Amino acid sequence: KEPKTLPLDAPFRLTQRPRRLRATAALRESVAETHLRPTDFIAPFFVLPGRGPSEAIPALPGVYRHSVEGFLREAERALRLGVRSWLLFGVMPEEAKDPLGQSSADPEGPVPQAVRAARRAFGEEAVIYTDVCLCAHTSHGHCGVLKETPRGLRIDNDRSLRQLAAMALVHAEAGADFVAPSDMMDGRVGYIRRVLDEAGFIEVGVLSYAVKYASAFYGPFREAAKSAPSFGDRASYQMDVRNAREALREAALDEAEGADMLMVKPALAYLDILARLRPSTPLPLVAYNVSGEYAMLKAAAQAGVLDEARAVRETLWAIKRAGADLIVSYHALEALEQGWL
Ligand code: PBG
Ligand code: ZN
Repeated sequence: KEPKTLPLDAPFRLTQRPRRLRATAALRESVAETHLRPTDFIAPFFVLPGRGPSEAIPALPGVYRHSVEGFLREAERALRLGVRSWLLFGVMPEEAKDPLGQSSADPEGPVPQAVRAARRAFGEEAVIYTDVCLCAHTSHGHCGVLKETPRGLRIDNDRSLRQLAAMALVHAEAGADFVAPSDMMDGRVGYIRRVLDEAGFIEVGVLSYAVKYASAFYGPFREAAKSAPSFGDRASYQMDVRNAREALREAALDEAEGADMLMVKPALAYLDILARLRPSTPLPLVAYNVSGEYAMLKAAAQAGVLDEARAVRETLWAIKRAGADLIVSYHALEALEQGWL
Protein backbone atom coordinates (compact mmCIF):
# COMPACT_ATOMS: atom_id res chain seq x y z
CA LYS A 1 0.00 0.00 0.00
CA GLU A 2 1.47 3.34 -1.12
CA PRO A 3 1.05 6.08 1.51
CA LYS A 4 -1.05 8.93 0.16
CA THR A 5 1.38 11.83 -0.13
CA LEU A 6 2.70 13.79 -3.10
CA PRO A 7 2.48 12.43 -6.64
CA LEU A 8 5.44 10.22 -7.48
CA ASP A 9 6.92 12.54 -10.10
CA ALA A 10 7.51 15.28 -7.52
CA PRO A 11 11.05 14.17 -6.62
CA PHE A 12 12.12 14.23 -10.25
CA ARG A 13 11.84 18.00 -10.21
CA LEU A 14 14.77 18.24 -7.79
CA THR A 15 17.61 20.06 -9.51
CA GLN A 16 19.99 19.83 -6.55
CA ARG A 17 20.93 16.35 -5.33
CA PRO A 18 23.93 16.64 -2.97
CA ARG A 19 23.90 12.88 -2.51
CA ARG A 20 25.31 12.47 -6.04
CA LEU A 21 28.68 13.52 -4.64
CA ARG A 22 28.49 10.86 -1.91
CA ALA A 23 27.74 7.87 -4.11
CA THR A 24 30.99 5.90 -3.85
CA ALA A 25 34.08 5.91 -1.69
CA ALA A 26 36.19 6.89 -4.70
CA LEU A 27 33.96 9.85 -5.46
CA ARG A 28 33.82 10.95 -1.81
CA GLU A 29 37.59 10.84 -1.61
CA SER A 30 37.88 12.91 -4.77
CA VAL A 31 35.67 15.71 -3.46
CA ALA A 32 36.81 15.67 0.19
CA GLU A 33 37.72 19.16 1.37
CA THR A 34 40.06 18.15 4.18
CA HIS A 35 43.11 15.91 4.14
CA LEU A 36 45.58 14.90 6.81
CA ARG A 37 49.24 14.29 6.00
CA PRO A 38 51.93 13.05 8.39
CA THR A 39 53.58 16.48 8.11
CA ASP A 40 50.44 18.09 9.57
CA PHE A 41 51.30 16.66 12.96
CA ILE A 42 53.57 17.73 15.77
CA ALA A 43 54.35 14.76 18.02
CA PRO A 44 54.75 15.59 21.73
CA PHE A 45 57.44 13.84 23.79
CA PHE A 46 58.12 13.79 27.54
CA VAL A 47 61.82 13.57 28.34
CA LEU A 48 63.34 12.47 31.67
CA PRO A 49 66.79 13.15 33.04
CA GLY A 50 69.08 10.15 33.33
CA ARG A 51 69.25 6.83 31.54
CA GLY A 52 66.41 4.95 33.18
CA PRO A 53 63.69 2.92 31.46
CA SER A 54 60.65 4.49 29.84
CA GLU A 55 57.75 5.15 32.24
CA ALA A 56 54.11 4.53 31.43
CA ILE A 57 51.67 7.36 32.26
CA PRO A 58 48.45 5.83 33.64
CA ALA A 59 46.37 8.89 32.74
CA LEU A 60 47.64 8.76 29.14
CA PRO A 61 47.56 5.13 28.01
CA GLY A 62 50.06 4.57 25.20
CA VAL A 63 52.16 7.64 26.06
CA TYR A 64 55.49 7.34 27.91
CA ARG A 65 58.17 9.41 29.56
CA HIS A 66 61.50 8.58 27.96
CA SER A 67 65.17 9.05 28.72
CA VAL A 68 67.07 10.87 25.99
CA GLU A 69 67.93 7.49 24.51
CA GLY A 70 64.32 6.31 24.60
CA PHE A 71 63.23 9.58 23.01
CA LEU A 72 65.67 9.03 20.13
CA ARG A 73 64.07 5.64 19.46
CA GLU A 74 60.58 7.20 19.44
CA ALA A 75 61.83 10.04 17.24
CA GLU A 76 63.07 7.47 14.74
CA ARG A 77 59.64 5.86 14.76
CA ALA A 78 58.08 9.28 14.12
CA LEU A 79 60.45 9.90 11.19
CA ARG A 80 59.58 6.50 9.70
CA LEU A 81 55.93 7.53 9.82
CA GLY A 82 56.70 10.90 8.23
CA VAL A 83 56.04 12.96 11.39
CA ARG A 84 58.92 15.40 11.24
CA SER A 85 57.82 17.97 13.83
CA TRP A 86 58.46 17.22 17.49
CA LEU A 87 57.55 19.13 20.65
CA LEU A 88 59.67 18.38 23.71
CA PHE A 89 58.64 18.62 27.37
CA GLY A 90 61.07 18.08 30.24
CA VAL A 91 59.99 16.17 33.35
CA MET A 92 61.90 16.86 36.55
CA PRO A 93 62.12 14.98 39.86
CA GLU A 94 60.82 16.92 42.90
CA GLU A 95 64.33 17.38 44.28
CA ALA A 96 65.39 19.33 41.18
CA LYS A 97 62.66 21.95 41.70
CA ASP A 98 62.89 25.31 43.44
CA PRO A 99 60.62 28.36 43.75
CA LEU A 100 62.28 30.08 40.78
CA GLY A 101 62.31 27.06 38.49
CA GLN A 102 66.01 27.45 37.86
CA SER A 103 66.43 23.92 36.47
CA SER A 104 64.51 25.18 33.42
CA ALA A 105 67.67 26.92 32.20
CA ASP A 106 70.11 24.11 32.93
CA PRO A 107 71.96 23.27 29.70
CA GLU A 108 72.33 19.71 31.05
CA GLY A 109 68.57 19.38 31.60
CA PRO A 110 66.65 16.67 29.73
CA VAL A 111 65.31 18.93 26.98
CA PRO A 112 68.61 20.57 25.94
CA GLN A 113 70.25 17.14 26.01
CA ALA A 114 67.48 15.63 23.90
CA VAL A 115 67.67 18.49 21.40
CA ARG A 116 71.43 18.12 21.00
CA ALA A 117 71.14 14.34 20.64
CA ALA A 118 68.34 14.64 18.06
CA ARG A 119 70.34 17.20 16.07
CA ARG A 120 73.33 14.87 16.07
CA ALA A 121 71.23 11.89 15.03
CA PHE A 122 68.81 13.46 12.56
CA GLY A 123 70.33 16.78 11.42
CA GLU A 124 67.67 18.88 9.76
CA GLU A 125 65.30 16.01 9.01
CA ALA A 126 63.03 17.17 11.82
CA VAL A 127 61.70 20.48 13.09
CA ILE A 128 62.31 20.58 16.82
CA TYR A 129 60.04 22.66 19.06
CA THR A 130 60.65 22.97 22.80
CA ASP A 131 57.99 23.87 25.35
CA VAL A 132 59.06 26.89 27.39
CA CYS A 133 57.36 27.12 30.77
CA LEU A 134 58.33 26.97 34.42
CA CYS A 135 55.60 24.71 35.84
CA ALA A 136 57.60 21.48 35.51
CA HIS A 137 60.53 23.20 37.26
CA THR A 138 58.98 25.24 40.09
CA SER A 139 58.44 23.66 43.49
CA HIS A 140 54.93 25.24 43.60
CA GLY A 141 54.03 24.10 40.07
CA HIS A 142 52.98 27.51 38.76
CA CYS A 143 54.03 28.62 35.29
CA GLY A 144 55.71 31.77 36.62
CA VAL A 145 57.61 32.79 39.74
CA LEU A 146 55.75 34.15 42.77
CA LYS A 147 55.94 37.30 44.85
CA GLU A 148 54.54 38.35 48.19
CA THR A 149 52.12 41.28 47.76
CA PRO A 150 49.77 43.13 50.14
CA ARG A 151 47.05 40.90 48.67
CA GLY A 152 49.00 37.70 49.24
CA LEU A 153 51.11 35.49 46.99
CA ARG A 154 50.82 36.47 43.34
CA ILE A 155 52.53 35.65 40.05
CA ASP A 156 55.42 38.01 39.37
CA ASN A 157 54.81 38.48 35.64
CA ASP A 158 57.88 40.47 34.72
CA ARG A 159 60.37 38.49 36.81
CA SER A 160 58.98 35.32 35.28
CA LEU A 161 59.94 36.63 31.84
CA ARG A 162 63.62 36.55 32.72
CA GLN A 163 63.58 32.89 33.71
CA LEU A 164 61.47 31.99 30.67
CA ALA A 165 63.86 33.81 28.33
CA ALA A 166 66.84 32.11 29.98
CA MET A 167 65.13 28.77 29.35
CA ALA A 168 64.39 29.68 25.72
CA LEU A 169 68.01 30.74 25.21
CA VAL A 170 69.31 27.40 26.53
CA HIS A 171 66.99 25.58 24.12
CA ALA A 172 68.20 27.75 21.23
CA GLU A 173 71.82 27.05 22.16
CA ALA A 174 71.05 23.33 22.13
CA GLY A 175 69.77 23.62 18.56
CA ALA A 176 65.98 23.96 18.79
CA ASP A 177 64.26 25.27 15.64
CA PHE A 178 61.41 26.87 17.58
CA VAL A 179 60.80 27.68 21.20
CA ALA A 180 57.17 27.41 22.29
CA PRO A 181 56.28 29.51 25.35
CA SER A 182 53.18 28.08 27.07
CA ASP A 183 53.26 30.09 30.30
CA MET A 184 50.75 32.85 29.34
CA MET A 185 52.71 35.66 31.01
CA ASP A 186 52.14 39.07 29.38
CA GLY A 187 54.93 40.18 27.07
CA ARG A 188 56.82 36.91 26.96
CA VAL A 189 56.95 36.59 23.19
CA GLY A 190 58.51 40.03 22.76
CA TYR A 191 60.91 39.50 25.63
CA ILE A 192 62.04 36.07 24.40
CA ARG A 193 62.38 37.42 20.85
CA ARG A 194 64.67 40.22 22.06
CA VAL A 195 66.83 37.93 24.17
CA LEU A 196 67.20 35.45 21.29
CA ASP A 197 68.04 38.22 18.83
CA GLU A 198 70.58 39.83 21.11
CA ALA A 199 72.30 36.46 21.56
CA GLY A 200 72.45 36.05 17.79
CA PHE A 201 69.67 33.48 17.45
CA ILE A 202 67.75 35.50 14.88
CA GLU A 203 66.79 32.35 12.99
CA VAL A 204 65.24 30.53 15.96
CA GLY A 205 61.46 30.90 15.78
CA VAL A 206 58.77 31.42 18.38
CA LEU A 207 55.62 29.31 18.34
CA SER A 208 53.42 31.11 20.82
CA TYR A 209 50.75 29.32 22.83
CA ALA A 210 48.93 32.59 22.22
CA VAL A 211 45.39 31.44 22.95
CA LYS A 212 45.57 29.09 25.89
CA TYR A 213 42.52 28.58 28.04
CA ALA A 214 42.34 27.65 31.73
CA SER A 215 40.98 24.23 30.82
CA ALA A 216 39.95 21.12 32.70
CA PHE A 217 41.41 19.08 29.84
CA TYR A 218 45.04 19.43 30.95
CA GLY A 219 44.67 17.01 33.86
CA PRO A 220 46.51 13.99 32.40
CA PHE A 221 49.35 16.19 31.12
CA ARG A 222 50.00 17.51 34.61
CA GLU A 223 50.39 13.95 35.81
CA ALA A 224 52.68 13.17 32.86
CA ALA A 225 54.85 16.27 33.36
CA LYS A 226 54.50 16.35 37.16
CA SER A 227 53.53 19.99 36.76
CA ALA A 228 50.26 20.45 38.66
CA PRO A 229 50.10 23.61 40.80
CA SER A 230 50.48 22.75 44.49
CA PHE A 231 47.94 25.44 45.44
CA GLY A 232 45.37 27.56 43.60
CA ASP A 233 44.91 27.31 39.85
CA ARG A 234 46.10 28.95 36.64
CA ALA A 235 43.08 31.23 36.16
CA SER A 236 45.08 34.43 36.71
CA TYR A 237 47.24 33.74 33.66
CA GLN A 238 45.42 31.30 31.36
CA MET A 239 42.36 32.59 29.52
CA ASP A 240 38.78 32.43 30.73
CA VAL A 241 36.99 29.64 28.87
CA ARG A 242 34.05 31.94 28.11
CA ASN A 243 36.02 34.48 26.07
CA ALA A 244 36.39 34.64 22.30
CA ARG A 245 37.19 38.30 21.57
CA GLU A 246 40.02 38.01 24.04
CA ALA A 247 41.53 35.30 21.83
CA LEU A 248 41.80 37.78 18.97
CA ARG A 249 43.53 40.21 21.31
CA GLU A 250 46.04 37.65 22.58
CA ALA A 251 46.78 36.52 19.03
CA ALA A 252 47.26 40.08 17.77
CA LEU A 253 49.59 40.93 20.64
CA ASP A 254 51.80 37.89 20.08
CA GLU A 255 51.91 38.53 16.36
CA ALA A 256 52.98 42.12 17.03
CA GLU A 257 55.62 40.89 19.50
CA GLY A 258 57.15 38.76 16.77
CA ALA A 259 55.60 35.29 17.07
CA ASP A 260 56.15 33.16 13.96
CA MET A 261 53.25 30.78 14.62
CA LEU A 262 50.24 30.89 16.92
CA MET A 263 48.61 28.11 18.89
CA VAL A 264 45.06 27.57 20.11
CA LYS A 265 44.74 25.23 23.07
CA PRO A 266 42.81 23.03 23.77
CA ALA A 267 41.39 22.13 20.35
CA LEU A 268 38.01 20.43 20.56
CA ALA A 269 35.99 22.81 22.70
CA TYR A 270 37.66 25.73 20.87
CA LEU A 271 37.10 24.98 17.19
CA ASP A 272 35.11 28.22 16.98
CA ILE A 273 38.20 30.10 18.13
CA LEU A 274 40.36 28.40 15.49
CA ALA A 275 37.83 29.19 12.80
CA ARG A 276 37.62 32.85 13.86
CA LEU A 277 41.36 33.26 14.11
CA ARG A 278 42.09 31.66 10.75
CA PRO A 279 41.13 34.67 8.59
CA SER A 280 42.48 37.22 11.07
CA THR A 281 46.19 36.26 10.92
CA PRO A 282 48.54 35.28 8.12
CA LEU A 283 50.63 33.18 10.52
CA PRO A 284 50.49 29.39 10.62
CA LEU A 285 47.95 28.21 13.18
CA VAL A 286 48.64 25.27 15.45
CA ALA A 287 45.96 23.46 17.45
CA TYR A 288 46.83 21.44 20.53
CA ASN A 289 44.66 18.33 20.83
CA VAL A 290 45.38 18.13 24.55
CA SER A 291 45.86 15.29 26.99
CA GLY A 292 42.29 15.27 28.35
CA GLU A 293 40.89 15.10 24.83
CA TYR A 294 43.13 12.12 24.12
CA ALA A 295 42.27 10.44 27.42
CA MET A 296 38.52 10.83 26.79
CA LEU A 297 38.69 8.97 23.48
CA LYS A 298 40.97 6.29 24.92
CA ALA A 299 38.61 5.72 27.84
CA ALA A 300 35.56 5.53 25.59
CA ALA A 301 37.34 3.15 23.21
CA GLN A 302 38.50 0.96 26.07
CA ALA A 303 34.96 0.88 27.44
CA GLY A 304 33.84 -0.32 24.03
CA VAL A 305 31.43 2.57 23.51
CA LEU A 306 33.02 3.92 20.34
CA ASP A 307 35.24 2.87 17.47
CA GLU A 308 38.65 4.41 18.22
CA ALA A 309 39.91 4.49 14.64
CA ARG A 310 36.87 6.37 13.39
CA ALA A 311 36.61 8.66 16.41
CA VAL A 312 40.29 9.66 16.20
CA ARG A 313 40.06 10.29 12.47
CA GLU A 314 36.92 12.38 12.85
CA THR A 315 38.50 14.40 15.65
CA LEU A 316 41.67 15.16 13.70
CA TRP A 317 39.75 16.01 10.54
CA ALA A 318 37.56 18.39 12.53
CA ILE A 319 40.57 20.25 13.89
CA LYS A 320 42.08 20.57 10.43
CA ARG A 321 38.75 21.60 8.89
CA ALA A 322 38.31 24.32 11.52
CA GLY A 323 41.53 25.98 10.35
CA ALA A 324 44.58 24.36 11.92
CA ASP A 325 47.70 24.10 9.78
CA LEU A 326 49.45 21.90 12.32
CA ILE A 327 48.07 19.65 15.06
CA VAL A 328 49.85 18.64 18.23
CA SER A 329 48.34 15.26 19.09
CA TYR A 330 49.14 12.24 21.23
CA HIS A 331 47.14 10.21 18.69
CA ALA A 332 49.38 11.01 15.71
CA LEU A 333 51.92 8.18 15.72
CA GLU A 334 49.48 5.41 16.63
CA ALA A 335 46.90 6.68 14.12
CA LEU A 336 49.44 6.70 11.29
CA GLU A 337 50.91 3.36 12.33
CA GLN A 338 47.50 1.71 12.47
CA GLY A 339 46.33 3.25 9.21
CA TRP A 340 43.47 5.11 10.91
CA LEU A 341 43.88 8.20 8.76
C1 PBG B 1 51.90 24.13 30.92
C2 PBG B 1 51.39 23.23 29.85
C3 PBG B 1 50.14 22.65 29.85
C4 PBG B 1 50.08 21.83 28.73
C5 PBG B 1 51.27 21.97 28.03
N1 PBG B 1 52.08 22.87 28.75
C6 PBG B 1 48.93 22.81 30.67
C7 PBG B 1 48.91 23.31 32.02
O1 PBG B 1 49.36 22.62 32.95
O2 PBG B 1 48.36 24.39 32.22
C8 PBG B 1 48.90 20.97 28.42
C9 PBG B 1 49.07 19.92 27.42
C10 PBG B 1 48.08 18.84 27.48
O3 PBG B 1 47.13 18.83 28.30
O4 PBG B 1 48.24 17.92 26.68
N2 PBG B 1 52.67 25.14 30.58
ZN1 ZN C 1 53.28 25.90 32.62
